Amino acid sequence: MIDIKRYDIIQAFLDKIKQKKGKVNYVEIGVQTGFCFFKIKADKKVAVDPNFIIKPTKKIKAYLNNFSNFNNVFFELTSDDFFSQKADYIKEIGGIDVIFVDGLHMHEQVVVDVENSLRFLNEGGVILMHDCNPASYAASVRGYSPMEIRKNPPPGWTGEWNGDTWKALVELRSRRKDLKIAVFDCDYGIGYVVPGKPENGLDFNVEEVKALTYDNLEQNREHYLNLKEANKYKEYVSAL
Ligand SMILES: C[S@@+](CC[C@H](N)C(=O)[O-])C[C@H]1O[C@@H](n2cnc3c(N)ncnc32)[C@H](O)[C@@H]1O
Repeated sequence: MIDIKRYDIIQAFLDKIKQKKGKVNYVEIGVQTGFCFFKIKADKKVAVDPNFIIKPTKKIKAYLNNFSNFNNVFFELTSDDFFSQKADYIKEIGGIDVIFVDGLHMHEQVVVDVENSLRFLNEGGVILMHDCNPASYAASVRGYSPMEIRKNPPPGWTGEWNGDTWKALVELRSRRKDLKIAVFDCDYGIGYVVPGKPENGLDFNVEEVKALTYDNLEQNREHYLNLKEANKYKEYVSAL
């Protein structure tokens, strides 16, 4: 099986957009240690997290391994504060070409993060999301952080945790008939959102989305998520 990671997909979209535009801006919401963020190559990279866990030595290594990191900007803010307080800054740098949404894993917040991202997304830009396809009930339990889940672990907990992010896809596919949305089946599910005609849609209201269970997802995974084989991301990159 091919092991495609979030940073492979993020980079492929950035490279395609750079070919067309010459310069690309990348924003990551929820950066933590910079495991993904520091690998990405883009002209401007913006990191947003209310609680970075980045050792100074890690930053130095990151600069040496990837010269893109010299232009990094870090905002120690929640996503909501970033979008409200830094709106002028985002416009000044020329908007966002690719944004990776991987902050608070509560589905309502994920919806807000995607809709705020759309306000600043350049034409031809892409929103990618992490943790859209949990593999077990335990991984899909609602919570603010993996630390919270670990204190009171659900049956079957293996330490892997995605929260109920998947419901954000269901809500957006139901409510937003102006967005093309899919999930690539790798690395816990990489969500893809761009403005455009949906390939297909869903019809749940907000309360119905809240009431959905992991069993519902198990029985309807491909349908709810518009799930695509991991490799298909290449077709979406080509189609940009
Ligand atoms: C799963 S980690 C991110 C991992 C990282 N994107 C990667 O791929 O290596 C989630 C991060 O989201 C941050 N976070 C929590 N609430 C947030 C919020 N409201 N806005 C932005 N980030 C948030 C947490 O502090 C945490 O560092």
